[in-house]
Formats: sequence, C-alpha cells, structure tokens
Amino acid sequence: MLPNLKLVLLASWAGQVLAGQTPTPLNITAISTRDGYSVLECWQLASIPVDAMSAANYAVGGNTTTATWSRIEPRTYIGQAWAPHVQLSIILNGLIRITSPAPASDNVSAASTPLPDGEGRPETQVAYIMPGTTKSSVLIAADLKALSTIAGHYTEFPSDEPTILVQIPFEGDKAPEHTILHEGACI
Ligand SMILES: *[C@@H]1O[C@H](CO)[C@@H](O)[C@H](O)[C@H]1NC(C)=O
Ligand SMILES: *[C@@H]1O[C@H](CO)[C@@H](O)[C@H](O)[C@H]1NC(C)=O
Ligand SMILES: *[C@@H]1O[C@H](CO)[C@@H](O)[C@H](O)[C@H]1NC(C)=O
Repeated sequence: MLPNLKLVLLASWAGQVLAGQTPTPLNITAISTRDGYSVLECWQLASIPVDAMSAANYAVGGNTTTATWSRIEPRTYIGQAWAPHVQLSIILNGLIRITSPAPASDNVSAASTPLPDGEGRPETQVAYIMPGTTKSSVLIAADLKALSTIAGHYTEFPSDEPTILVQIPFEGDKAPEHTILHEGACI
C-alpha cells in the first residue's frame, strides 16, 4: 500500500501572512495539453497559504503517491516525451531544457531549428528548469500521452553534471487546482 503523502511547499515570504496582507499566490511552470499538443504554461495555484511553523505553507494538489529520486547522466537527450503521471518535479542539480510542443522531427539537431508551425499547432516554447530560484526549480508535468495525442514535449539534460530530480506523482493523476497566467514558463 502506497503512503498518502500530503505535499506542502514552505515559502520564505511567511512574513506576509503574519502581517495579514493578501497572501502571494504560488506560480509554477507546467507542461499541459492543448488541442492534443503539449504546451508550456504558467499556472497560478488556487492554494491559500496557511501560517504555521514560522512558514507560509501552500498545499500543492491533493494526495500524492511515492516520491522518486532520479539521477540522469550528463548530456542526456531523451527526445519526445510525455508525463508518465501528473506529477510535481523538483530539480536539485543539473538542467532540464524543455521544448514544447516537441518539434515535428524527433531529432536533436533538428530540435534547435523547429519546423514551421503547422495549422492549429501552438507556438513552440522553451523552458529551462534548474536549481536557483523558486520559479526555476519546480515543474508540474501533466501532459499525459493519452491527452497529448499529436505531439508531446521534447526533453534534454544538457548539463555537464548529472541532473537530480525528485518526482512526486499526484494520486489519480489529479493536477492541482489552478488558473493559467500565461503561455510559456513562469518568468
Ligand atoms: C505570481 O504571479 C502573480 C501575477 O503575475 C504575481 O502577482 C505574484 O507575485 C506571483 N507570485 C510569486 C510568488 O512570485
Ligand atoms: C486523500 O486520501 C485520504 C485517505 O485515503 C482520503 O480520505 C481523501 O479523500 C483523499 N483526498 C483527495 C483530495 O483525494
Ligand atoms: C537530424 O537532423 C539533421 C538536420 O536536419 C540531419 O542532418 C541529421 O542527419 C538528422 N539525424 C538523424 C539521426 O536523423
């Protein structure tokens, strides 16, 4: 039986909650699906932070299943990929370059010069997920293969160091409640 973990992000802006101001909403870069294509979006979570343990605590989604610690070798090029589960990924080392939707040709050199966008194809966006800031180091992957039926995203780990990820799937592939702030990664 898998543990039912409840995921909470601690934020460094706890003072705002303590001071009774409107709490800052949490924005997380997501890979979602639009019209059968994987797309990068900036999601604003509906979660209202709770002040406890000297921190602002944001629930991220509902129940989660077993977290996985993953190590990806330097300069790994995966090609077209889809989210295996709707999950939160936190990067501890290295770099992920995500191009979405995936270029029409599943080929590394071709990826840097994507083919012209076809009819109804969303604009190609690129995101760099890396340690450093709250915005850069967290990603929600929600583009299941059953949803992104025309094109998934394209994943590369171009760093000279291994990329270390902690991946936390949401139970039932249920994405956290959110609104879409804009297309592309949160900046
Ligand atoms: C999330 O985005 C909103 C709208 O752009 C912004 O006001 C807010 O400060 C952002 N939250 C954080 C934690 O940066
Ligand atoms: C989370 O799991 C608990 C225990 O199984 C369950 O009672 C609850 O309804 C679940 N919450 C959600 C949002 O699925
Ligand atoms: C990838 O695309 C480049 C440029 O179009 C081409 O030169 C190369 O042969 C392709 N490689 C493979 C493995 O298809």
